[in-house]
Amino acid sequence: MSDIITVVAPVNIAVIKYWGKRDAKLNIPLNDSVSGTLDAKVMCAKTSVCVRPDFEEDRLWLNGENVSIYKENFQKCLNKIRILAKEQKSRDEKFLTWKVHICSENNFPTAAGLASSAAGFACLVTALSKLYGVQTDVSALARLGSGSACRSVYGGFVRWHAGSNPDGSDSIAKQVVDSSYWPEMKVLILVVADNKKSTSSTKGMIITAKTSELIDHRCRVTVPSRVEKMCEAIKRKDFPTFAELTMKDSNEFHAVCLSSYPPCVYLTDVSNKIIEIIHRYNEMRGSPKVAYTFDAGPNACLYLLEEEVPKVISLIKYFFPSSSETFIKGLPCPDLKEEFT
Ligand code: PMV
Repeated sequence: MSDIITVVAPVNIAVIKYWGKRDAKLNIPLNDSVSGTLDAKVMCAKTSVCVRPDFEEDRLWLNGENVSIYKENFQKCLNKIRILAKEQKSRDEKFLTWKVHICSENNFPTAAGLASSAAGFACLVTALSKLYGVQTDVSALARLGSGSACRSVYGGFVRWHAGSNPDGSDSIAKQVVDSSYWPEMKVLILVVADNKKSTSSTKGMIITAKTSELIDHRCRVTVPSRVEKMCEAIKRKDFPTFAELTMKDSNEFHAVCLSSYPPCVYLTDVSNKIIEIIHRYNEMRGSPKVAYTFDAGPNACLYLLEEEVPKVISLIKYFFPSSSETFIKGLPCPDLKEEFT
């Protein structure tokens, strides 16, 4: 006898970044953040979970490779779900003693600053919650695995509320608008490098929290008002305001990373070249038509309206002709059907 559940979850790209933890164990952030969720058909994680009486131990495969399930963030999610299943009596006692096997795959580079852990943990906790029959806010469970994963459980634009409760019970994601609200909004991912990033976001956040003199200003002063303005801009479909806030937040986030000691450097010369090109393009057009944003890696995520997509792809191909075939991936935000590869 066995039970198998398979779930697909999308990547999300933050326009107001999460950086820094109020509680590292519970992954409670210092600040609210906002992101757009991409179409799961283009960039996603797919996870299958299975329990059987004859499995001898919990096991985990990531992209075909057997990896340790005893890493802290996997254990936090699995333990919490088993505890909830016991409390809610959603499965019988025997089921809860059986071991679980988890198999997860991404259709894009893992850990290259492309939010792979967000999609992965959103998938994992959704699949496990179904398997164990637990009723709970899945975003709070996903947060335990990887903070930004809590935003991947919803489509459209999503806000992760930092919350103020010590137990993290109000540190959850909520949808700002659903995926049909702003269909003209698209995302292009420019893959600058698809190798593993040098400083993981967890490590980077620790170094920043300990050593940056700018992070406090970011969390107390800039981000709170920026998050409100961003949610309003999204609801008004005000692209110029959305774009300006997105670029300013990306720049501030990387400035905070650089202000750490030793500095966390995620952007490369190519990333900086892209920033320069986008500013020149926006200046030429008279108002912001494209917004760049960079996570903890060198890859650029460009938010833009559909009518700009062909022009911006030509622009990128002009400046980076040799990599034109693999450099650009057209991505929806949300529900775009085409792929620009
Ligand atoms: O969820 P983590 O621990 O992978 O951190 C994500 C951090 C950023 O991607 C840089 C920002 C964000 O809000 O997604």
